[in-house]
Amino acid sequence: MLITVAGFKGGIGKTTTAVHLACYFSQLGKTLLVDGDPNRSATGWSKRGDGDNFPFKVVDLMQAALYSPKYEHIVIDTAARPNEDELQALADGCNLLVLPTTPDALAIDALLQTVDLLTELESDWRSQCAERNRYRILLTMVHPKPVKMAQQAREALAEVPLFDTEIRRLIAYEKAALMGVPVYEVKDRMAKIAWSDYEQVGKEIMS
Ligand SMILES: Nc1ncnc2c1ncn2[C@@H]1O[C@H](COP(=O)(O)OP(=O)(O)OP(=O)(O)O)[C@@H](O)[C@H]1O
Ligand SMILES: [Mg+2]
Repeated sequence: MLITVAGFKGGIGKTTTAVHLACYFSQLGKTLLVDGDPNRSATGWSKRGDGDNFPFKVVDLMQAALYSPKYEHIVIDTAARPNEDELQALADGCNLLVLPTTPDALAIDALLQTVDLLTELESDWRSQCAERNRYRILLTMVHPKPVKMAQQAREALAEVPLFDTEIRRLIAYEKAALMGVPVYEVKDRMAKIAWSDYEQVGKEIMS
């Protein structure tokens, strides 16, 4: 499985999503995380702490060609705001494009601006291969209250494919990035719940 995580805004949980999907896929087979963001956030995360806390290898784009044939699952983290051509190239280069978004109006607006393009890509894919997975939107950093916000986001995104699972806004993720570990290794009472959200997304991808 080759999964690319992309988004139309900064700071919406792309890297957090890429890291935890890579954790999920590591349970299924040898997994590589390709850090395609010039900011190198995933690489930085992997090097904090004692620097060996991820169950997968992290490489940058320049190393990806050499490493990828040896891995069963590959997750690619990317920088924010791909233009149309870049989005097309990203989509063409993977089995599933995961697009995280926060449920706030500005992030949803940024996403909706590209919905036409995504719809076009979708019909291209269908004509090429009916079985091919497409893109899917993931609501991230969903605050437990107000519940209404996530509901409104779902309504605004009614026309686009959305994961059923939402990633809750939990401080455990920030602690994980700071400590250089996956969220399930964080000593926080919500850490297991945080991990269960991404596990659920992984299951949706595989189902
Ligand atoms: N579900 C969540 N709950 C709480 N905080 C989160 C959650 N997901 C991510 N964060 C935090 O939000 C910040 C941004 O997350 P992240 O780096 O994953 O976003 P990004 O889209 O990759 O950002 P960038 O555009 O800078 O690459 C980080 O501090 C991260 O720890
Ligand atoms: Mg990032």
